[in-house]
Amino acid sequence: MIEIKKLMKQADNKTILKGIDLSIKKGETVGILGPNGAGKSTLLKVLATLVKPSSGEVAVGGYDLKKNPGEIKRLFGYLPHSSLLYDHYSPLENLVFFAKIYGVKNPEERAVQLVKEVGLSFFLNDPVKNFSRGMIQRIAIARAIIHEPSILLLDEPHTGLDQGAIGILNNVILSMKENGATILMVTHDFKQAAELCDRIVIVKNGKIADDFILRNRNITTLNEKYSHQVEGVS
Ligand SMILES: Nc1ncnc2c1ncn2[C@@H]1O[C@H](COP(=O)(O)OP(=O)(O)O)[C@@H](O)[C@H]1O
Ligand SMILES: [Mg+2]
Repeated sequence: MIEIKKLMKQADNKTILKGIDLSIKKGETVGILGPNGAGKSTLLKVLATLVKPSSGEVAVGGYDLKKNPGEIKRLFGYLPHSSLLYDHYSPLENLVFFAKIYGVKNPEERAVQLVKEVGLSFFLNDPVKNFSRGMIQRIAIARAIIHEPSILLLDEPHTGLDQGAIGILNNVILSMKENGATILMVTHDFKQAAELCDRIVIVKNGKIADDFILRNRNITTLNEKYSHQVEGVS
């Protein structure tokens, strides 16, 4: 589904990604872990076609990133740190706007259904600017999946969420997983990574330091492997 070869990204004389090789199969749920500044968000941005690679190859669903960025873009649902929502608009207005951009059929119907799914029907028409971080993230989740993407890119999606919002987010992730979606999730939350992901990729200093299948939702294995790679503890 995703084939990344020798991916490099340079910016301001700094090499952020130093030759990433990564192959992800359809339906995999991959947790991307690593210290701050490792290049995790940059990697997701390259896939979301928001950042241009300096060199290397990226192919998604058979499309080449350089030749077919438009085709690739609609395969992805991207949930970054920032919500990408318009402050002065309501959840309904925001979601209808994004639904139309993606050419979703029945934008209003889809928007209303998603607001209901994320538990905010009561606030359907209130401006987003008055919302808490958790409420905004719920609408941002709805925005990311409005066009039923086949790949989800999530950048620290659990940060700052209450238990209710975590439950909603995890239900969205698990139901997309059940429907065969491919999921890449950057996280510092080992508990969520172990619960949701089948495979873990550790990024350190612009490179992949480890890449393994996580069996039995085993958080102890995850902790040990992470400490070994990132903190140099063996
Ligand atoms: N547009 C940019 N220009 C220059 N440096 C950048 C840019 N984007 C990110 N960086 C730098 O690249 C490194 C990796 O950033 P990032 O991918 O956000 O890391 P992570 O998500 O793993 O914390 C950081 O040192 C960051 O300061
Ligand atoms: Mg980041």
